[in-house]
Amino acid sequence: MNKKKILVINGPNLNLLGLREPSIYGRKTYTELEDYVNQCAHALGLDAVLFQSNHEGVIVDRIQAALGEVDGIVINPAAYTHTSIAILDALKAVGLPAVEVHLSDPEQREPFRRVSYTALACERRFVGCGFEGYRLALEYLNERLSGRKA
Ligand code: DQA
Repeated sequence: MNKKKILVINGPNLNLLGLREPSIYGRKTYTELEDYVNQCAHALGLDAVLFQSNHEGVIVDRIQAALGEVDGIVINPAAYTHTSIAILDALKAVGLPAVEVHLSDPEQREPFRRVSYTALACERRFVGCGFEGYRLALEYLNERLSGRKA
């Protein structure tokens, strides 16, 4: 059987993990996040395709290109969570099962982080669990795609 493919998108400034605000995001780097996601996907028998961009339109293009290529999307849209109707619309347009992840819990931070446009196109949200949120998102999609979750 072909492995299910999951596109894992990370938005702006997540490439600077380890360096950026370590008191909020921790000291582990983006490369370590990539390794972690690949390991979790492997353990679940999934194929993870990792993508990071600091540019809204590039993320929209990547979501569009995912149609027919992958089975689901895990997305940490970073700051675009709180601003991007374009990314919300792209997720809605392709209609792939999507899960939103945040390393921190945006609800516990500044008021402007309490709004998530992108969550409106996502089936689930995992926040405040650090790297583990990506594992929880992959587990959710794995069950969802194998029909164990409606
Ligand atoms: C973030 C939370 C966002 O509010 C912030 O803009 C980020 C990272 C997180 O993973 O906790 O860049 O998405």
